Amino acid sequence: MSKLLQPFKLGQMELANRIVMAPMTRARINNKQDAADAATALYYAQRSSAGLIITEGSQISTQAQGFLFTPGIYNESQVKGWQATTKAVHDNNGTIFLQLWHVGRMSHTSLQPNGQAPVSSVAQRAENGTCFAFDDQGNPGVISVSKPKALTNEEIQLIKLDFVQAAKNAIEAGFDGVEIHGANGYLIEQFINATLNTRTDIYGGQSIEDRTRLALEIVDDIALAIGAERTSIRLAPLGRFAGMTPFNQEQETWLHLAAELSKRDLAYVHLSDQETIGAQAIPEGFTEKFRAAYNGVLMIAGGFDKEKAEQYLQEGKVDLIAFGRPFISNPDLVERIKHNWPLTAADPAIFYGGDQQGYTDFPNYVAHTTTIS
Ligand SMILES: Cc1cc2nc3c(=O)[nH]c(=O)nc-3n(C[C@H](O)[C@H](O)[C@H](O)COP(=O)(O)O)c2cc1C
Repeated sequence: MSKLLQPFKLGQMELANRIVMAPMTRARINNKQDAADAATALYYAQRSSAGLIITEGSQISTQAQGFLFTPGIYNESQVKGWQATTKAVHDNNGTIFLQLWHVGRMSHTSLQPNGQAPVSSVAQRAENGTCFAFDDQGNPGVISVSKPKALTNEEIQLIKLDFVQAAKNAIEAGFDGVEIHGANGYLIEQFINATLNTRTDIYGGQSIEDRTRLALEIVDDIALAIGAERTSIRLAPLGRFAGMTPFNQEQETWLHLAAELSKRDLAYVHLSDQETIGAQAIPEGFTEKFRAAYNGVLMIAGGFDKEKAEQYLQEGKVDLIAFGRPFISNPDLVERIKHNWPLTAADPAIFYGGDQQGYTDFPNYVAHTTTIS
């Protein structure tokens, strides 16, 4: 019997199935407030048969932004904007978490307040790192990231406050919970990575406790503000995205996080396998090690189809499977999986930016019926 299509109890929430829509930036917000709008609401409503939707990364402050046209969650217009989305999804009996995003050094001065440098654990530019920002002529485009400045301890405390306020805003906007973006080489991972984070204070260096401190403090502060059962985090164990390189005690670091997160009764932990987004896969056997060290709800994303998803669930490797690209071109992915209907292929040309085309115009599958007269 299919496990994928079975309901799942996530804290107090009843998910209709174990199919999750993975967080995906679509860069289609075209207003000065960077507020989610009616098109955002329509896009997520169309996909609300997913057991759980995790929204695209939503910046927690202006400093946190690394892509143009992404939605924020730090001011009133943005809270109002997202309310239309949560209402539309809830009207369809869906469940939706907001992803809280701080890109750290993966940004450009043209996106930063007063044209300042972006921020990170240390002042080291991401080699070959790009972001979607304004070029020298003021036109939007893919350009190299700027050199960041190292955060002071005081500034780190302010970022933690931004995360907490953003989480509270998400609840005010009607979200069922939040997912902290701790994956894919953004701010939190820029602290976790020992090759990069050579700080000499309590937020860095060779000590695993110090490098994971920021991640855990953000988790704890948000859990205190909105409840642990509405708090979750996404991680990319041994990830290589956005200039993340190998480091000493790498597996130990991720397993330390797993053990620490175990103590916190979160909604879930979400593993991002980066093989299908241009980096390396989580090494063979590591998901099982993480599972053994973490005793809560575990989700994974990255390259899943129906068969692989079912296999992971049947083997008990994880509890929930997130699908990314298949949800872009198949709003009714759950029904297509259920009936073994064919999937519309993903088209990377329409992933980021633009208008409704390639965003809200993918039709549901129409089954051809033959009538016998
Ligand atoms: C267009 C696009 C945008 C993405 N944006 C985000 C994002 O905002 N936050 C995030 O954590 N991951 C993001 N990802 C990664 C996905 O969540 C997912 O992990 C990845 O696509 C692999 O899953 P898949 O093989 O099912 O597509 C994005 C991926 C794509 C294709």
